[in-house]
Amino acid sequence: QPINCEPLKSLVRTVPDFPKPGILFYDITTLLKDKQGYAALIDALAAHYIGKDIDLVLGIEARGFIFGPALAYRLNAGFVPVRKPRKLPAETARITYDLEYGTDSLEIHLDSIEPGQRVVVVDDLLATGGTMEATVKLVQQLGGEIAGLGFAVELDFLKGRAKFPEFDVFSLLHYDE
Ligand code: PRP
Ligand code: MG
Repeated sequence: QPINCEPLKSLVRTVPDFPKPGILFYDITTLLKDKQGYAALIDALAAHYIGKDIDLVLGIEARGFIFGPALAYRLNAGFVPVRKPRKLPAETARITYDLEYGTDSLEIHLDSIEPGQRVVVVDDLLATGGTMEATVKLVQQLGGEIAGLGFAVELDFLKGRAKFPEFDVFSLLHYDE
């Protein structure tokens, strides 16, 4: 049965006008430092994926690393980092994607996923979905099977999940504005 994370919202700090005027930032650091809060987040994520035969959890640098390893441990899955350019030492696949201003890139080790392995990708936040969309393409390029896309926070009003109609998109905390 799904864990109700709604009470955890009281531990999320809202910061107006960060990183720029007009943006309300949902700061989960206040939730992460709470021992029951952090455990509840990981437990709730794990509850969604337990029994789904997950081989690998991918975390997206940087803030996906807050959740990916703990989730992988709970699922008895491996952990794979998806990193900003030029951080990974061996052969990589790279993808470049559009931001509001300019572009960004992500890399993954070519040998990090075996064809057919079942992969959950996690990140802290689903906003426009551009970061996750790029990561999904890397996973598919390597022959992985997307078993789920998991987030701590989803900004529902940005409709990022519309980019992933074919996948299980699961977020713990939803915000409407
Ligand atoms: C933030 C956040 C997500 C992404 C969400 O990462 O951690 O990865 O943006 O936005 P999107 O859904 O519109 O793509 P950011 O690139 O700011 O860097 P960080 O994780 O390294 O802090
Ligand atoms: Mg990020």
